[in-house]
Amino acid sequence: IAKKMESFEATMGHIEGVPLLGSTCDAWDSIYNFQARGDDILIATYPKAGTTWMQEIVDLILQEGDAQKGRRAPTYIKVPFIDMVPPKPMPSGVELAQTMKSPRVLKTHLPINLLPPSFWEKNVKVVYFARNAKDCMVSYYYFQKINKVLPDPGTWENYFSAFLSGHVPWGIWFDHVIGWWKAMDKHQILFIFYEDMIEDPMREIRKVMKFLGKDLSDGVLENIKYHTSFQAMKENPMTNNSTIPNFVLDQTISPFMRKGTVGDWKTHFSVAQNIIFDEEYKKKMEGSGLNFRTEL
Ligand code: A3P
Repeated sequence: IAKKMESFEATMGHIEGVPLLGSTCDAWDSIYNFQARGDDILIATYPKAGTTWMQEIVDLILQEGDAQKGRRAPTYIKVPFIDMVPPKPMPSGVELAQTMKSPRVLKTHLPINLLPPSFWEKNVKVVYFARNAKDCMVSYYYFQKINKVLPDPGTWENYFSAFLSGHVPWGIWFDHVIGWWKAMDKHQILFIFYEDMIEDPMREIRKVMKFLGKDLSDGVLENIKYHTSFQAMKENPMTNNSTIPNFVLDQTISPFMRKGTVGDWKTHFSVAQNIIFDEEYKKKMEGSGLNFRTEL
């Protein structure tokens, strides 16, 4: 099986103009027709916003802080990624989700206009976790280097342009965050920022808990904070993706749990890139009412 899988190549396609993995496009009908359940919880993010972190936080809230139960399986099994179709024989996110007992926690990177309509029909609660674009870009650059399912990012110079113009899997960061932000008045969406979570995890974990209709003691919340800290998740084989083989995710190049900070972009952006970025950011975000911090 390993031999067969080693030969796969990352291909890209488009759905309604959004670049998605070729395998996602091939399976698009089954993804778009995904049947949500009323008690599902959906975690939606642009790639590298800290999805895995939020997956663990939500799971541990549901497990009432029981870290032992949290370790029952790797994050990507506990929380199926519905728009992902990994190389065979690994099951697709849709297949994993279909066999799961309720309540399910699900993950998506889809921009809001591509979300399977069933989520809205069932009025599913969505936690949208957002991270500033500069740090997302840096994190995504390393991730595309190590993740063989994704296209090679090329040089940092080239990647900078590709990211800004949305020539990366799941498309334009700006459209993604603004699309989900604007839907908050129509749907049950909790918007949480990565930077806020770094600044005060207890405060933000409590927001998620309340949104999910749970009432946990401060002691339990402290425990969740501890087990979802960067260091704990980096050391935990169920959360650090070390169960994924090297030929799919080559963590010898760069670890999945890489830095987990706000402002690492400063060690990657040139002065010129920063000016270009800030101009683009102003143009795209103006009037959206959505503000990101790029440093704490
Ligand atoms: P860096 O590459 O900047 O370190 P995703 O899960 O969406 O792929 O996001 C991965 C990013 O979230 C990585 O960012 C990773 O280090 C960071 N991350 C994961 N768990 C974290 C945690 N517990 N605390 C802070 N950052 C975390």
